[in-house]
Amino acid sequence: MKTTTIENTDLHVSMFCLGGQSFGSRDDKTVSYAMLDQFVDGGGNFLDTANNYAIWNGEGGESETMLGNWLADRGNRDAIVLATKMGGRAKDAPMSSKPEHIRRECERSLKRLRTDHIDLYYFHCDDRSVPLEDQLGAMDELVREGKVRHVGASNFRAWRLAEAAAVSAANNITAFCCVQQRHTYLRPRVDADFGFQKSTNDDLLEYCRQRDFQLIAYSPLLGGAYIREDRPIQRQYRHADSDARKATLFQIAEEIGATPNQVILAWLTGRGVIPISGASKAQQLSESLIGFDLTLSDEILDRLDAAGADNG
Ligand SMILES: NC(=O)c1ccc[n+]([C@@H]2O[C@H](COP(=O)([O-])OP(=O)(O)OC[C@H]3O[C@@H](n4cnc5c(N)ncnc54)[C@H](OP(=O)(O)O)[C@@H]3O)[C@@H](O)[C@H]2O)c1
Repeated sequence: MKTTTIENTDLHVSMFCLGGQSFGSRDDKTVSYAMLDQFVDGGGNFLDTANNYAIWNGEGGESETMLGNWLADRGNRDAIVLATKMGGRAKDAPMSSKPEHIRRECERSLKRLRTDHIDLYYFHCDDRSVPLEDQLGAMDELVREGKVRHVGASNFRAWRLAEAAAVSAANNITAFCCVQQRHTYLRPRVDADFGFQKSTNDDLLEYCRQRDFQLIAYSPLLGGAYIREDRPIQRQYRHADSDARKATLFQIAEEIGATPNQVILAWLTGRGVIPISGASKAQQLSESLIGFDLTLSDEILDRLDAAGADNG
């Protein structure tokens, strides 16, 4: 399994982060434990959840509870890099990143996760109604208390990351160490709207490159839509650029004897991005684990980068 250390942190993680969004709600204990065990057996150590997973399948909080029980049952908390989030609409909590909300949700997450610290704590979305000084100040207190080790942003625009970096530097408080954003091989249409979810765009990718700022990509496989007839590609990705990129992706997969999903995961890790992917079946996870072990040649990475409607 490829590993990396997130810049400006001591977080040494597998380049495969397992998303636990459905654990405990859509996926029962048998499925959730099987996926977690298989992931760790395959060399993974980086887990992602949120205080509100999966409110659309239940109450919210079930995923953290499932992870907390699994960590306690396996006795492996110290071997895992545990990431969770706050700020989205959660059980008995509005969408908010007010300081009192940050503290209360952190305490609730710690309890559900059955741990005394969160390794990576994200703002799930960008709450522009609360000054960044206050949001980052509240996170900084949690870091000083040892409840949180590092802080990340999710669904933030590049200019807001730059603002946050300036606020952290000016106040000498904890700075974001990474951004978790919607990102896959297909590029969304210019008019694409994902609601509170934010996709990467040229600005964000440039920001990450220029600052050695870690990009963590959620929904890299579009929920299986690259290959599944029961799950069509979302309309936000339907345009000529995607047709061209998909053609190149499938061509390269055939040439190297890999699956399209594996090529996507290997392309992302080859470009220094950490994908967060989910799975609910052993075969899906086995396929992804092989993808994470795959190293693409520079020539193939360049061909994948270059594909698109404008450049053939
Ligand atoms: N920060 C945010 O706002 C945000 C938003 C969304 C997600 N996330 C995080 O990112 C994680 C991953 O998101 P995601 O589930 O959308 O990731 P994804 O990688 O796009 O999709 C994973 C899903 O694709 C299907 N799949 C995977 N391998 C497959 C295969 N070989 N063949 C067929 N289908 C396959 C499975 O769906 P089924 O299980 O349904 O079969 C699997 O659960 C979440 O769990 C969460 O932790 C964060």
